[in-house]
Amino acid sequence: MSESLRYDGQTVVVTGAGGGLGRAYALFFGSRGANVVVNDLGGSFKGEGGDSKAADVVVNEIKKAGGNAVANYNSVEDGDKIIQTAIDAFGRVDVLINNAGILRDISFKNMKDQDWDLIMKVHVVGAYKCARAAWPHFRKQKYGRVINTASAAGLFGAFGQTNYSAAKLAQVGFTETLAKEGAKYNILCNVIAPIAASRMTETVLPKEVLDNLKPDWVVPLVAYLVHKDNQENGSIFEVGGGHIAKLRWERSKGALLKADASFTPAALIEKWADVENFSEAQYPTGPNDFMALLEEAQKLPANPTPAPVSFKGRVAVV
Ligand code: NAI
Repeated sequence: MSESLRYDGQTVVVTGAGGGLGRAYALFFGSRGANVVVNDLGGSFKGEGGDSKAADVVVNEIKKAGGNAVANYNSVEDGDKIIQTAIDAFGRVDVLINNAGILRDISFKNMKDQDWDLIMKVHVVGAYKCARAAWPHFRKQKYGRVINTASAAGLFGAFGQTNYSAAKLAQVGFTETLAKEGAKYNILCNVIAPIAASRMTETVLPKEVLDNLKPDWVVPLVAYLVHKDNQENGSIFEVGGGHIAKLRWERSKGALLKADASFTPAALIEKWADVENFSEAQYPTGPNDFMALLEEAQKLPANPTPAPVSFKGRVAVV
């Protein structure tokens, strides 16, 4: 792969590119030969209001530096309009970076439907709508690259972010399936959990920390993953502060009750150490891995006299 990656003739759509990470991506691709669609609704970080200025400023920055860019002011919920902007302006779409995002942090006790719904609309529906609109173009040209944006809050949970966590882990499942469906058309999809200084983090992290979390430092990973020479697909990455790591699922050894004298909770409790034993871990990449385990289990002799499992209310009698 060339040392200086270029994207000449390609159209890169970056959602939420009016600030923070999206702006950093847009400026980079604009400087490396791509035609860039700078999408931004221009609202507050809580998802209120809208202003075309956010996208316009970035388009002007790209143009001033000699690049090609157009603005789009739609919400990602209208992803078809964003992709249409790419087609109208540049005749094609090659890369989609689903980056737009908002926060509505609040403890679960105080969560209102509006806080939940708005987060789902922007992150989950928005990523879906943009990808759905780009998909036929990607398939037809047998080429596409997608980046979805998750978060550590989605991977691990974070106080006050049940809505955001749910929406962000949704990006992982969405990416893993898109990657499987897209592979044969050379449509590769990956998901990142970034950390960077932006208006989203500036109120929660101290300045010394923010100084070491430049959005520009997330760019190299995204640039590599969406390049035509990249073959990485369906992967999860953490990226920020100059550190980049890959994440994967890990399955414990697991307990097998099939050959046991009973299928009671007591039998399970006896084998609980196996349920939690990661010393012989597996790293599954698809549902078939688990089906293979089940097939192995089927080969074991059947339980001769399964003891009845009884319930009193919702409490199992072991
Ligand atoms: P940011 O607030 O600076 O940028 C997000 C941009 O998305 C804003 O310019 C906003 O106007 C735009 N936007 C919001 N709703 C939109 C909509 N409906 N349609 C179109 N544009 C919309 O935030 P930042 O930090 O750059 O975040 C970028 C992405 O990275 C988000 O998805 C965020 O959830 C994610 N993320 C960021 C982290 C960080 O440390 N900054 C941590 C984890 C995830």
